[in-house]
Amino acid sequence: MKTIPLPPCQHQPKKYTGPSAAEILALRKQFMNPGIFLYYKNPIMLVEGKMQYVWDETGKRYLDGLGGIVTVSVGHCHPHVVAAANAQTALMQHSTTIYLQPNVALYAEKLAAKMPGELKVCYFVNSGSEANDLALLMARAYTQNYDVISLRNAYHGGSVGTMGVTAHSTWKYNVPHSFGVHHALAPYPYRGVYGYDDPDAGRKYAEDVKQVIDFCTPGKIAGFIAESIQGVGGFVEFPQGYLKQTYEFVRAAGGVCIADEVQTGFGRTGTHFWGFETQGVIPDIVTLAKGIGNGVPLAAVVTTPKIAQALVGKVHFNTFGGNPVVSAIGTAVLEVIEKENLQANARKLGDYILAGLHRLKQRHKIIGDVRGKGLMLGIEMVKDRGTKAPASAECAQVVETAKDLGLLLGKGGLWGQTIRFAPPMCLTQADADFLLAVLDEAFASVS
Ligand SMILES: Cc1ncc(COP(=O)(O)O)c(C=O)c1O
Repeated sequence: MKTIPLPPCQHQPKKYTGPSAAEILALRKQFMNPGIFLYYKNPIMLVEGKMQYVWDETGKRYLDGLGGIVTVSVGHCHPHVVAAANAQTALMQHSTTIYLQPNVALYAEKLAAKMPGELKVCYFVNSGSEANDLALLMARAYTQNYDVISLRNAYHGGSVGTMGVTAHSTWKYNVPHSFGVHHALAPYPYRGVYGYDDPDAGRKYAEDVKQVIDFCTPGKIAGFIAESIQGVGGFVEFPQGYLKQTYEFVRAAGGVCIADEVQTGFGRTGTHFWGFETQGVIPDIVTLAKGIGNGVPLAAVVTTPKIAQALVGKVHFNTFGGNPVVSAIGTAVLEVIEKENLQANARKLGDYILAGLHRLKQRHKIIGDVRGKGLMLGIEMVKDRGTKAPASAECAQVVETAKDLGLLLGKGGLWGQTIRFAPPMCLTQADADFLLAVLDEAFASVS
């Protein structure tokens, strides 16, 4: 295999002196969750990160094309984020919401300022699953309805509540978890019933939500939840007009609209700060996690004052939600995105890479579809462009070859057939060229 040089990097990783990868693997096998999966035939161990790069214990550097699963938004150990975290950790690590604390209130104001319309009340939690659980509770408490519509091919979390709205068998345990949840068609132009060639696909997929309301619920619903681009499902972008029409149907049935921005938020899509804006809608409830904290357990739900009132009758309490340290980090993340124009960078490089992916599609028949927005790009691999049979083994092989060449990528889709690229948004043009060169080589190895 030819070598492709990684762009130069000033950072010198520290010499690693801890246990070997084999020792850590053995510990993990003995003492940790046996159901969790590892990437790669020989799993790699990451011990250091700086901006868009990570290093394994041998000192080998990789371009982090997945950002810890779409989580490292502004860069590993970004100096401004580290400084904010260190300063607050040295001052006061924790207090809880039963006392006043400046960071969390100042952060809530800053986060709310990024939201359109009436979305001005923030709740802080620790993970995307918790945020979505809370959003579902809010929708039900506010509307006094129970039924919720989610989409097939969605991922909203692994808690018992969110497992119900998640719609991939991979993540659903065979226990009761989906009461009142109905899954509408995934608006998936490449694989779904209405394709890219149908200019009316957005309205037609939305019509399915209406059918679910009419045929599967009492006609009144609590809400509709959707990612703005499906993440775990393989970076599936909805046809234009889909959310607008769907929101109309949902609101007409008494429901509220929940946008899961866990992967699509914070400028990643390039053209907009929030993914839902790419469809020209304003949700009633927005859930945030992952990129919000650049890698720390911070998540949030943002809603309107009216909906927030619905939870006032009982106490909604979360021990670490809005902790002073994570609030300082969340604030620093917003500052970096603004100061370093990371949204504009995501747009510029996203467009550049997408054009490169279209060229790769012409060269490699195994690529069935390329899609996405900004720095959230997917490449769906198929054994045959006619049958669209998922090329799962080949996708795993491309990810493996890319790793050997110094690039970490993700996989998505029900069959693990879609390559996901969602790096820290500090990516450079040189990184983009490296990515395209590595992908070309990796696709050639399976063609
Ligand atoms: C779109 C989306 N929502 C929710 C979640 C759940 O987040 P967490 O793993 O922090 O609970 C994820 C996690 O991958 C996600 O991708």
